[in-house]
Amino acid sequence: MVDLPTTTPPAQPTTGNDEVDALHPLKPYRSLENEVLQQRIEAVRQELGDELLILGHHYQQDEVIEHTDLRGDSYQLSEMAAKSQACRTIVFCGVHFMAETADILANRPDRIEARDGRRVDVLLPDMAAGCSMADMAAIAQVEAAWADMSEVIDTEQVIPVTYINSAASLKAFCGRNGGIVCTSSNARAVLEWAFERGQRVFFFPDQHLGRNTALTMDITEEQMPVWDPYALEMGGNTDEQIKSSRVILWKGHCSVHQMFRAEHVDRFRKEHPGIKILVHPECPREVNDIADVSGSTGKIIQTVKNSPAGTKWAIGTELHLVNRLKDEHPEQEIHFLSPVVCMCATMYRIDLTHLCWTLENLRDGRLVNQIRVDEETTKWSLIALERMLAVK
Ligand code: 13P
Ligand code: SF4
Repeated sequence: MVDLPTTTPPAQPTTGNDEVDALHPLKPYRSLENEVLQQRIEAVRQELGDELLILGHHYQQDEVIEHTDLRGDSYQLSEMAAKSQACRTIVFCGVHFMAETADILANRPDRIEARDGRRVDVLLPDMAAGCSMADMAAIAQVEAAWADMSEVIDTEQVIPVTYINSAASLKAFCGRNGGIVCTSSNARAVLEWAFERGQRVFFFPDQHLGRNTALTMDITEEQMPVWDPYALEMGGNTDEQIKSSRVILWKGHCSVHQMFRAEHVDRFRKEHPGIKILVHPECPREVNDIADVSGSTGKIIQTVKNSPAGTKWAIGTELHLVNRLKDEHPEQEIHFLSPVVCMCATMYRIDLTHLCWTLENLRDGRLVNQIRVDEETTKWSLIALERMLAVK
């Protein structure tokens, strides 16, 4: 029996029963105006000073981003957590796997020793802020796939690579099996690292990032079978396909970036001559192949920042980030690549209400929504994460 899902705990919605809802701990916060929530959040930040570090992913809504100390993409945030010195608590405005990574990196043995045994607590303002892509690969499925493929290939020669957008248990699997973690900003360097150590790569959970990256390394689509964890045998492949593979791609995707289509690109090029298409590599191959620039969230931001006034862009990534780029770069013409709303619904769960509730509890000495990865998982995940941080 496969244990699903791994990273998205159930939401805590209202029940519709007023008496029950009145007991919900967030209830007193729900009726507060944004202005009041903002003032109260800032009051806690002032009071806790350097003891508190609020990190925010670029996909967060503006009103949350305004209250973060540092913002970044997945790679930058993991580096920030790894470097955190003075703080006692990290409040992570992002999703569950990011908070897990922060817990692992901020509490490395050398860091704990340097703090005389003190851990950094990591809090996620809403436990329902998971990631649908991370949920597409459960550890039991990955282990079952590994055992299945070992019947036809030598898994000693397979390097498992997990995208950072995955549960800590998958990172631990990579740590235990000579593998590594990657983010969208270092995926190519990580694949090169892997091919220096083995003949093949098993890449999960995002097939698109794996495929788009491997295609830049002269690996063909035919050498990249897709492993469907729900198929009855060999992930839906023949033994021959697995034997002749170079990268075995997990059948997972980001529900946000999956929505961008080649016809969106064609339409923009037709209606806006001279426009450039800038996309995230979580987009499907059909979009990634015809884009002018493909890159991580950090690269997308840098590319716009470094472009001259008057540049026209259609950008294929999360909506909140594209809207922020529009506001920050009025000298350029920025469009959202899709005609439909593609926003990350789970990132969006972090709002002022949850942030204020988390911070005021913290100030009053209560840790709510703490993310704490168990020791064994931490030990092996850290190995895979440190391998990634060492790759340049
Ligand atoms: P990056 O921050 O690595 O670009 O990843 C995008 C993403 O989907 C985060 O959840
Ligand atoms: Fe997951 Fe996609 Fe949301 Fe990132 S944008 S958290 S990959 S669903």
